[in-house]
Amino acid sequence: MIKKTALLLILFGISTCLVAQDATYKEQYRPQFHFSPAINWMNDPNGMVYYDGEYHLFYQYNPFGDKWGHMSWGHAVSTDLVHWEHLPVALYEENNVMIFSGSAVVDHQNTTGFGTIDNPPMVAIYTGHHTDQKRQDQRLAYSLDKGRTWKKYEGNPVLDEQMADFRDPKVIWHEESEQWIMVLAIPLEFKVAFYGSDDLKNWNKLSEFGPSGAVGGIWECPLLFEVPVDGTDETKWVLQVDLNPGGPAGGSGSQYFVGDFDGITFVQDPTSAGRTLWADHGPDFYAVHSFENVTTDDGNHIWMAWMNNWDYAQDIPTSPWRSSMTIPREVGLKQYADGIYLTQQPIKELRKLRSAHRVFSPFTISKNDRWKPDEWRQSLSFEMIIELDVNEATETGLTFKNSSGEEIQITYLSATKELQFDRSDSGETDFNEKFSKRHSVSVIPENGSLKLHLFIDASSIEIFANEGRISITERVFPEAKPFDLSIFSKGGESMVTRLEVWNLASIW
Ligand code: FRU
Repeated sequence: MIKKTALLLILFGISTCLVAQDATYKEQYRPQFHFSPAINWMNDPNGMVYYDGEYHLFYQYNPFGDKWGHMSWGHAVSTDLVHWEHLPVALYEENNVMIFSGSAVVDHQNTTGFGTIDNPPMVAIYTGHHTDQKRQDQRLAYSLDKGRTWKKYEGNPVLDEQMADFRDPKVIWHEESEQWIMVLAIPLEFKVAFYGSDDLKNWNKLSEFGPSGAVGGIWECPLLFEVPVDGTDETKWVLQVDLNPGGPAGGSGSQYFVGDFDGITFVQDPTSAGRTLWADHGPDFYAVHSFENVTTDDGNHIWMAWMNNWDYAQDIPTSPWRSSMTIPREVGLKQYADGIYLTQQPIKELRKLRSAHRVFSPFTISKNDRWKPDEWRQSLSFEMIIELDVNEATETGLTFKNSSGEEIQITYLSATKELQFDRSDSGETDFNEKFSKRHSVSVIPENGSLKLHLFIDASSIEIFANEGRISITERVFPEAKPFDLSIFSKGGESMVTRLEVWNLASIW
């Protein structure tokens, strides 16, 4: 007999799915080329994995409201990483256990015995968050039908250290030691722990890492992956750990460590030790998650973050949904003169959304002047590449302004070599006093040229500076009116050597 609650959940799942398909996706602030749920609350991306022609994205989801609660795993699939199809909720909260963040793998060798070699199980490894006691443990669920239906493992939990805060398992297959590796957060101790397993069901503790880097807030949602270091012939391991609060722009943030992992211990490179490396310098990049079994031709990984900040996430003025993900980004490492750093680039697949294209010939902006293109009014769904020779200018930058006077300002300050993002007049800002207004990050122009690649989508801006060496992710809430662009130069002239804009088509 199906229990009444289960029946309600099934009916709710069906109705959520119908709403999803019926939604117009034209609401104010609705991203047009970023993933967002049709309705209700979303936080961290979870369980990103590729299986038989489909990319799976799971995410922290409240099926019952637009604030955090009743955490379950929402689900969507894509065949191109650009267009997403909503599927019913994959894992529901049940028996006082919420489904917190975690990862998913395809168990090709059927090490769990949940499937067969011919039909390998997709296995989700998530944190069970108990609502009736202070306890978090690690659990499994599996699917034998391409993620369409899920069964929670009857032997759950598979890892219980009797701890109140012990969460967000990211599991990878470690080729060299031929075992599953789990990295997860011990948030209040600013540590991550590593465990090993042959079958995903029995786990041995291998080591711990931390405290290190930024410890101004709790540690959550670690990631571990190996990538080639561009400019060398070696590979390195990236250990990414989220921090909340204490991020570079206030509130939530994402830091990373570069080093080596031998199947037991993560050893940080001496050159990257002793300082904090941020994956993104804006306020709206958190809980980033990478595809478990996807690499690009260059051996890089692909990740997406929750484009929000716990400081104000539950108050952002969107309805009937709350939160979206960043665009999928290719993430790698590169050797620079002063060390190895993370680089991020928009995935190439996004180029298929490019439509109307405008290319401007190089031009100079005189001292204290402001350049405006003819007939350029842009609704907020576009991609832009700008390269600028700063020359003698003390300040140079871009202003996007609409007819209500709302503006977004991106300024390069020569004296301090900083790129500053100003959203103080960008529209709705007073929904939460912690919605910080201005952020800056050190950016050194390469050979005098500042290169910015921007993705602007209704209520978000992602900036990739200097070929992805720096990324800045910001939410803004302006009226849905076309924006005018102007480019200014103060204290001296500067030169725009490249300016290209593409309208981007909606993915919905
Ligand atoms: C990070 C986080 C995770 C947790 C999840 C709960 O944003 O706090 O640590 O698993 O959200 O929704």
